[in-house]
Amino acid sequence: MSPPTLPRPDYGIDAPGVVRTMLLVGAAGLAVWATAAAGLWPEAVAGPLASAGAVMGVWFGGLGLYMIYSSRVGKLRDRERLLDLVPWSGREAVLDVGCGRGLMLTAAARRVPDGRAVGVDIWQAVDQSGNRPEATAENARREGVADRVEVVTGDMRELPFADGSFDAVVSHWAVHNLYAAADRGRALGEMARVLKPGGRVVLADIQHHAEYAAGFTALGLVDVRRAGPAWKRVLLTALTFGGFRPDVVVGRKPG
Ligand SMILES: C[S@@+](CC[C@H](N)C(=O)[O-])C[C@H]1O[C@@H](n2cnc3c(N)ncnc32)[C@H](O)[C@@H]1O
Repeated sequence: MSPPTLPRPDYGIDAPGVVRTMLLVGAAGLAVWATAAAGLWPEAVAGPLASAGAVMGVWFGGLGLYMIYSSRVGKLRDRERLLDLVPWSGREAVLDVGCGRGLMLTAAARRVPDGRAVGVDIWQAVDQSGNRPEATAENARREGVADRVEVVTGDMRELPFADGSFDAVVSHWAVHNLYAAADRGRALGEMARVLKPGGRVVLADIQHHAEYAAGFTALGLVDVRRAGPAWKRVLLTALTFGGFRPDVVVGRKPG
């Protein structure tokens, strides 16, 4: 008899409140367009209303649907490409900063069969649906890596780990949640502090990449560069008027 198949991991939806608002505004726009097209508005305003409704519906609705696609499909594809940026031996200790429900954490754990993967977060539900340590631990179980995954509650501005604890630090779409540049700088300093000499950092985010690259360089990291696909950044920056500019910054601690 074959062993029972585990349910698929569930990494939640990012920024669920923003997604809900986008879809509601998009639906309202389409409703205005449809009622104007059906002749339910006075003739003088029907034309402009139909155009405005159609634009609102397609733009907001499209972005809301894209955010769902990104959380459910796009991020799962991207995580492997991001982890390919680290030359793994399989024995590393890796830290996922702002791990949420464990998207990067569990995939990193698969790369280190003889190592360990630690995820740290403060579990803000506004940033990811169903965000709690139990959900992360359950995803590790479903991915078959629970034996080498540890989930820790802690703030990225004050990581609860000793200096030089990790061979690699990864972080995906988490640091921008710190709204003050000084706080983001503290988080970068903590990532550099907990890295071992020779350790690698892979920081993927939706904003602030020039700041991150300059910050890591000032902290003494070397080989600091942007590693995200330029076409995606340019396209999404244009479609969101600069609100969403996904890219990646990588670097290495000398030693
Ligand atoms: C959009 S979610 C991304 C989660 C996960 N990295 C992913 O890509 O699926 C952002 C995460 O950052 C976490 N976060 C926000 N501020 C934080 C802080 N100061 N320290 C640690 N984690 C934080 C949130 O709780 C949330 O889990």
